[in-house]
Amino acid sequence: MSQEPTILIDHPLVQHKLALLRDKSTGTKEFKELVSELAMLMCYEATRDLPTEEVEIETPIATARVRKLAGRKLAFVPILRAGLGMVDGMLAMVPAAKVGHIGLYRDPDTLQPVEYYCKLPGDISERDVILLDPMLATGGSAVDAIRLLQARGAKHIKFIGIIAAPEGLDRLQRECPDVPVYLAALDDRLDSHGYIVPGLGDAGDRIFGTK
Ligand code: PRP
Ligand code: URA
Repeated sequence: MSQEPTILIDHPLVQHKLALLRDKSTGTKEFKELVSELAMLMCYEATRDLPTEEVEIETPIATARVRKLAGRKLAFVPILRAGLGMVDGMLAMVPAAKVGHIGLYRDPDTLQPVEYYCKLPGDISERDVILLDPMLATGGSAVDAIRLLQARGAKHIKFIGIIAAPEGLDRLQRECPDVPVYLAALDDRLDSHGYIVPGLGDAGDRIFGTK
């Protein structure tokens, strides 16, 4: 099977917001806003290949042939908790999308993902699914979430993250070669606790103000 491409979004607005996001002096309110804004900008890139169809409408002046979205509907699926921060930005771009939730946390000792929640739209198998998580570290959470989605019938899945470690991206590409990946940055490495270096710290804690 051929490997789907990984798209690094190099847009100046994305890179500027990412710089603010990484800064340890950025507080919870601004951090949350930045995650949402980044999701909005990245959604724009990740939906670039959606099919459209030409239809006729009436403007107040004349008849116009215009293009509207066609094809399968979308579902956005955040991995809890940090992926939740991306949902509003995505919905600002595609308000009609349905939202599913997958709850996973990393065991701090083994770094293995532990599933605690999964609620998806009933028609998930008929939708294009965009999986959301700002951090792709070892890749365990993203791969598990994709397996859960596939087990419920999802066939067309994309992943939007904000920062990845090479280890996580390699694993995702190796184990899920049919899932295109959209990122704002590919960082240097993981540290001994599985944190991305330089990264931004713990995304869930920074979004929700926990420690
Ligand atoms: C973080 C992050 C990812 C996961 C990435 O979540 O949001 O889901 O770690 O790590 P991985 O690629 O090594 O699996 P975390 O487990 O800290 O849960 P939280 O968002 O609830 O804090
Ligand atoms: N999860 C995070 O929130 N940050 C990391 O650097 C790695 C996993």
